[in-house]
Amino acid sequence: MKCARRDFLLSASGLLLPSCVRPRPEPKLLPSLIPLPKTFEASLPIPPVLQPARTDADMDYYDVSVQPASARILPGVSTTIWGYAGIFPGPTIEARRGRRVSLRLRNALPVPIVNHLHGGHTAPESDGYPTDLILPSGGFETSHMHDPMAKIAAGEREYVYQNDQRAATLWYHDHRMDFTGPQVWRGLAGFYIIRDPEEEQIPLPRGSREIPLLICDRSFDADGSLLYPALDSTLHDPPGVPLEYMGGVLGDVVLVNGAPWPRLEVANVKYRFRILNASNARRYELALEPSPRVGVAFEQIGSDGGLLQSAVPLRTIRIAPAERFDVVVDFSKFRLGSSVVLTNQSDSGTAGQVMRFDITRSERDESAIPSKLSDFAVGKPEDAVTTRVFDFSYVRAQHEWRINGKPFDPTRMDARPRLDTTEVWHLKTDFSHPLHLHLVHFRVLSHSGRPGLYDAGWKDTVDLGPGQAASILVRFGGHRGRYVFHCHNLEHEDMSMMGNFEVI
Ligand code: C2O
Ligand code: CU
Repeated sequence: MKCARRDFLLSASGLLLPSCVRPRPEPKLLPSLIPLPKTFEASLPIPPVLQPARTDADMDYYDVSVQPASARILPGVSTTIWGYAGIFPGPTIEARRGRRVSLRLRNALPVPIVNHLHGGHTAPESDGYPTDLILPSGGFETSHMHDPMAKIAAGEREYVYQNDQRAATLWYHDHRMDFTGPQVWRGLAGFYIIRDPEEEQIPLPRGSREIPLLICDRSFDADGSLLYPALDSTLHDPPGVPLEYMGGVLGDVVLVNGAPWPRLEVANVKYRFRILNASNARRYELALEPSPRVGVAFEQIGSDGGLLQSAVPLRTIRIAPAERFDVVVDFSKFRLGSSVVLTNQSDSGTAGQVMRFDITRSERDESAIPSKLSDFAVGKPEDAVTTRVFDFSYVRAQHEWRINGKPFDPTRMDARPRLDTTEVWHLKTDFSHPLHLHLVHFRVLSHSGRPGLYDAGWKDTVDLGPGQAASILVRFGGHRGRYVFHCHNLEHEDMSMMGNFEVI
């Protein structure tokens, strides 16, 4: 490779590197300016389940105000968050398969919002296309990103979710064009759990032994406010972050359900944890320390799209932004009275720890993981009518993350799959990218040559490491219309790594 002389730069290790072979921008730590709290002091909060304002024969109606609020996250200071119903994480929405949900959002923030149900098989008008903004009730001035097809709402919008899909752990989050990173960072994310009779028949741990864990990293300013390197801190214009944070923003405080490194008292029985990585850019390699005396730490029972066919034993869980792992941990494998730390093996700093379980009591356990969890037909690669290739990479000259060399453009369709057909998509990357398709769940056929350890079941997000490629088998069912697919590193997404498909 030839490099012009001006393209040389000094690397961190003091070596002169030609910039044309320099590594792609990595996610970068934004250190907090406030002293960090002690680990394992806070107790684990559980987000409250949202109560419907009313119900009728086939629909539950929810009214939620999206607003600034003051939260107690760190000891001794208050933090202004942006929250669904004023809390972070947002309230959990419990839905039943086949019963619809109406979610009416009122925007009481100073900026536009968009809501996306991640993992939902949602009609396009309710999917939260990034330019389908809900403007603040007081209006909003910006010249930013024109989309002639955008459906702009003033003050509020109703989203309708069909829930015509398997029981699964979904989540909802903000999806405002170019500003998703900072708006999720401020708190706009919550769980959405779909239940169905198939899953309820299985004697999995339930009730207080079924616990959602929303894991995300954040950084805090000296006064306790959330710190984020937005180019415009009012989130008007311009969008994005300085070049050094192009690769993604990492925080040094790990929050679980909004509390820093919390602890949870458990009985010496099995628990089901629905783990969601809601971080902007951080990947975790979750492990238990100590590891159990027998067997492995985690039995994975479900992934993004619901239960697996049978459980997969895992020593560690590599989880990228937006992925969900539904796992069972059996605390009878540990000594009563002992503590077990959920660690993150991919960080040696403060983000190396996540939370702690204290095994404080003995209880009976009637739960079990049957050898067959769920029966479903998976498609065959031979069913595919089309094969498409998408290359996710960084274009240094423009400082942009791109798909097939192009930045996001709401007026350009990158694929037009036909309704109820199956396609193979080959995804390739230069760098680490968790890739997500709206509307569908897919199967990972191969991931750098073989099926990945962490790709079991129905996925809506597949995490590719540097230089990796994956083939996914996707059936475009349910709805016609315009949807996005994108990298779920939110800084990459905000800086153009997004494309469109239209189901026709
Ligand atoms: Cu979780 Cu398009 O997003
Ligand atoms: Cu990416």
